[in-house]
Amino acid sequence: MNATTQAPTSRHGEVPFSERLRAATWGDHEAAEHHGFTRTLMEGVLPLDGYTAMVAQHYFAYVALEDLGRALADDPVAGRFHQPELLRVPALVRDLEHLLGPDFRDRVSPSPATRAYTARIERMADHPEGFVAHHYTRYMGDVSGGQFIRRVAARTYGLTHEGLSFYVFDGLGSLPRFRSEYRARLDSLELTPAAADRLVSETRLAYQLNTEVLADLGRRHTPRAQVD
Ligand code: HEM
Repeated sequence: MNATTQAPTSRHGEVPFSERLRAATWGDHEAAEHHGFTRTLMEGVLPLDGYTAMVAQHYFAYVALEDLGRALADDPVAGRFHQPELLRVPALVRDLEHLLGPDFRDRVSPSPATRAYTARIERMADHPEGFVAHHYTRYMGDVSGGQFIRRVAARTYGLTHEGLSFYVFDGLGSLPRFRSEYRARLDSLELTPAAADRLVSETRLAYQLNTEVLADLGRRHTPRAQVD
């Protein structure tokens, strides 16, 4: 998927923050998007247990992200992103109950890469702009590339709603409109230059931590053999 890496300028010659963020992190996005595990998933050759393992790792990451989101709900920066319709843990629980059964919690554990990722999220309790970085990296991804993953997972595993409800955002209405409103929210943050820089660099780190989670999944789940 191509996206411009050139940040356009506004009428006043200033680059909107959302454009700056996207341009500064798109290279890291490419690494996540084109990672071996993601490619295997998108090519429809990842066995179902690999998909299930990814859903399980998402579960631990979103528990950390959404616990922190609730804790920061009244923060003037982080609180702007608090939106109940986005919350993914209830959907992940439903998906894992479908994929692994009601006792799924006894059958899954966070990988070392996921533990590093959740530990980093938890450290953002005192850095609201860092929380926004992690929020942006996951939810903007879920409403963008996640929608391609949803279609591939439906086709590859024959899943309908059950098992992929993580990617279904019925409560949000139009996803393109949500994405542009999200960018407007980023643009309206009144960040000091230092806080804006921290948000950009934390987003790069968030992508890298996500890529490490994918790399770990890729080591444990290889493509199924192609039959000619
Ligand atoms: C199958 C893999 C992926 C595909 C096909 C994909 C595709 C895309 C596409 C097409 C967009 C642009 C949407 C738009 O312009 O409105 C996008 C945006 C985005 N993706 Fe991905 N993506 C993938 C994986 C990921 C991963 C693994 C992450 C993070 C962990 C991620 C995070 C994001 C974010 C944060 C954006 C928003 C960028 C912005 O407009 O500011 N994506 N993705």
